[in-house]
Amino acid sequence: MKMKNVSRLLAILLMLNAICLIGFAQKPAKWVAPDKYKTMKNPNAGDASTGKDLFAKHCKSCHGKDGLGDGPKAATLGASCGDFTAKEFQSQTDGEIFYKITTGRDKMPAFGKTISEDNDRWAIVNYLRKLK
Ligand code: HEC
Repeated sequence: MKMKNVSRLLAILLMLNAICLIGFAQKPAKWVAPDKYKTMKNPNAGDASTGKDLFAKHCKSCHGKDGLGDGPKAATLGASCGDFTAKEFQSQTDGEIFYKITTGRDKMPAFGKTISEDNDRWAIVNYLRKLK
């Protein structure tokens, strides 16, 4: 390949890269839970007090005490933590929220191991329902 063509190719690659960065990096794709989780029944509905304690320990630093996404660590993440009081968030099923807490994504840690009891993660879901 001629040098001129190589640099043309490089220029095109750089442009595509920039388009991807603008298109995807700033606004992450919608986080969708698998169907299996969407319809999952909460086996621990009602226990929000365990959830409150766990939220204070593991989540508040990023999500803020009222779940608005304004915890002290939030500003350093370079990503939005979302707003648990928002209608869009609350319209998810318990199972979808449980899934996101369990698996995490990007800057959102996965808590499947850190909070290893399923019922504890369900209890957090119950507490998040109180934040609306
Ligand atoms: C290090 C900061 C950090 C900590 C700690 C953290 N989160 Fe997150 N969380 C995030 C970020 C950033 C997102 C957005 C992730 C994305 O959309 O890719 C997020 C997203 C979420 C979502 C999905 C929000 C939506 O709009 O559907 C839930 C649910 C959630 N977090 C719950 C929790 C819970 C519960 C804890 C504690 C057990 C926790 N998070 C701890 C940073 C954090």
